[in-house]
Amino acid sequence: MFLQKTEKYLFDDSYYVNSTFFYVRIYRWNPYLSLKPWFNIFPLKSKDVKQLMVLDLLFHIKNKYDSTITFRRSCREGICGSCSMNINGINSLACLKNFDPKFSQFLTIYPLPHMLILKDLICDLTNFYNQYRLIKPWLIREKKYDKNQIKKENLQSKIDRFALDGLYECILCACCSASCPSYWWNYDKYLGPAILLQTYKWLMDSRDLDSKNRLNFLNNTLRISKCHGITNCTKVCPKNLNPAQIINFLKYFSKI
Ligand code: SF4
Ligand code: SF4
Ligand code: FES
Repeated sequence: MFLQKTEKYLFDDSYYVNSTFFYVRIYRWNPYLSLKPWFNIFPLKSKDVKQLMVLDLLFHIKNKYDSTITFRRSCREGICGSCSMNINGINSLACLKNFDPKFSQFLTIYPLPHMLILKDLICDLTNFYNQYRLIKPWLIREKKYDKNQIKKENLQSKIDRFALDGLYECILCACCSASCPSYWWNYDKYLGPAILLQTYKWLMDSRDLDSKNRLNFLNNTLRISKCHGITNCTKVCPKNLNPAQIINFLKYFSKI
């Protein structure tokens, strides 16, 4: 009888979930403590917190309950890409993700999946940015450095500029790459959707004169061919871009 009661208490939500509260569960890990990762659960009164962005909620918790919670953010406008994290199972930007306790009592926040963790919700993006550097993310004009050229404006027609729509909006938040199973298992070889989308952007830029080398760089089978068209990347992109489609274009251009 006692066991039955205990089981009911443990497994029936209604025993401990009170609708006047909602619960925020946050992944924690501190490299300076010899502890395994753990979760903190913060019960918050629904009436105290109205409809909020997840980033505001994190600030609320940090300011009121635990100042040691660590996360990245800068612009709070979906522009810098630094507040990317896994929110209720989906990679998103905390500053663009709405949470309304009226519709859900639970919010679980993890760092981006399959990334090394520096602390709490902060991932180590060194590999991601090293890969970005490999694609030479700058305008390449003349082979030799020309002092006069650098003073000239590189003009572009309106039509050429339109070719960059759906590409230039990428803020390198890494939500797409961190949701890609191929990138999880081959992060050291496969470039991942974000970096491939950036490569395509430079290929499409009419002002850039290095297309041949940029395509040659992709002609290493693993850098691009590890994409299997699962399209997780497109599903999560907070800027509504379509990296999966871009990778198909790239495969066509580089004949992989
Ligand atoms: S394609 Fe989208 S999800 Fe990927 S890095 Fe760019 S903005 Fe972020
Ligand atoms: S479409 Fe390609 S890049 Fe996007 S999630 Fe799938 S395997 Fe990864
Ligand atoms: S804080 Fe800049 S994108 Fe969220």
